[in-house]
Amino acid sequence: MLTITDDTKFLFDIEIGLGAWSWGDRIVWSYGRTHSDEDIKNAFDISLEAGISFIDTAEVYGQGRSETLIGQFLKTTPKKVMIATKFMPLPWRLGKSSLTRALKHSLNRLGLESVDLYQIHWPLAPFPIEHWVEGLAQVKQLGLTKAVGVSNYNKNQMQMAYTILAKYSIPLASNQVEYSLLDRKIEKNGLLDRCNEMGVRLISYSPLAKGLLTGKYTPENPPPGIRGRQYAGKLKAIQPLIKLMTEMGQDHGGKSPAQIALNWLICKNTLPIPGAKNARQAEMNAGAAGWRLTPDQVKTLDEASDKLGN
Ligand SMILES: NC(=O)c1ccc[n+]([C@@H]2O[C@H](COP(=O)([O-])OP(=O)(O)OC[C@H]3O[C@@H](n4cnc5c(N)ncnc54)[C@H](OP(=O)(O)O)[C@@H]3O)[C@@H](O)[C@H]2O)c1
Repeated sequence: MLTITDDTKFLFDIEIGLGAWSWGDRIVWSYGRTHSDEDIKNAFDISLEAGISFIDTAEVYGQGRSETLIGQFLKTTPKKVMIATKFMPLPWRLGKSSLTRALKHSLNRLGLESVDLYQIHWPLAPFPIEHWVEGLAQVKQLGLTKAVGVSNYNKNQMQMAYTILAKYSIPLASNQVEYSLLDRKIEKNGLLDRCNEMGVRLISYSPLAKGLLTGKYTPENPPPGIRGRQYAGKLKAIQPLIKLMTEMGQDHGGKSPAQIALNWLICKNTLPIPGAKNARQAEMNAGAAGWRLTPDQVKTLDEASDKLGN
């Protein structure tokens, strides 16, 4: 069972993308305080210059601000940028046509006639999986998206989505889930293996554990806001891993811990989409592609991460 087709192959050709949640989000990412529209535009420009051509956003990021900014930026470049966005199955959304309507609103903000990947953001109640996946089939048939995917779906939910789409001869292109050296649930519960068997591209979100794997946060210098509270217990424990990644980076011409963490995800046959608030972060993250850790180094990182109970 392998269903990589002309419409989904492009995802397997991409080594690394760019995540745009922080572009407009004030609650978790302090948009407007830690990064301005100019910083974000610089991140966009430098990413494209460095060869990044895949950007992940969602209708809910900054309540549409992320898509609007991307729409503005796309007008400033002749380069082809592949855009992935997402539908949130909010409980007050009822008919399947609300998915089509939501995508049309996203396209309006993005200034596009179609996107490259449209994803269901979460398998939220009250509707069963088939309700929204039928909606995905509809937008694919309308030509509003090149490929369709899901996000935060477990193995069973993903299988259901795959089977429903197969009725329409539409392949399930991707499943976007949390995956990093600090969160390896999908390795342990078999989701990663299942994606590989099914020809579904696994897109790794929060690949830097929301900044923790860059090494810039310590017990003395925790991340601000919600992240500080979420990760307070981990900052001390991860320091040996950060040290290991710093040392390993020396074997690759001085790569940073962030670049090692992202390359580890590429070596695991997944597509990481790190967020970047400015040009410096975007440039560093783009430098995580185009080379490979050795199999021994991947194993050493696995072991160091295992010691943290991830
Ligand atoms: N499908 C879903 O449910 C879902 C959920 C979460 C995320 N996502 C997607 O995944 C993308 C990435 O995940 P994420 O944004 O949660 O977390 P992430 O990529 O793990 O971390 C991003 C944050 O780390 C810091 N950072 C990034 N690169 C850096 C560098 N080179 N040096 C120093 N600091 C750096 C920045 O924040 P600071 O500078 O403030 O530390 C940045 O905003 C999102 O943008 C979104 O597209 C999807």
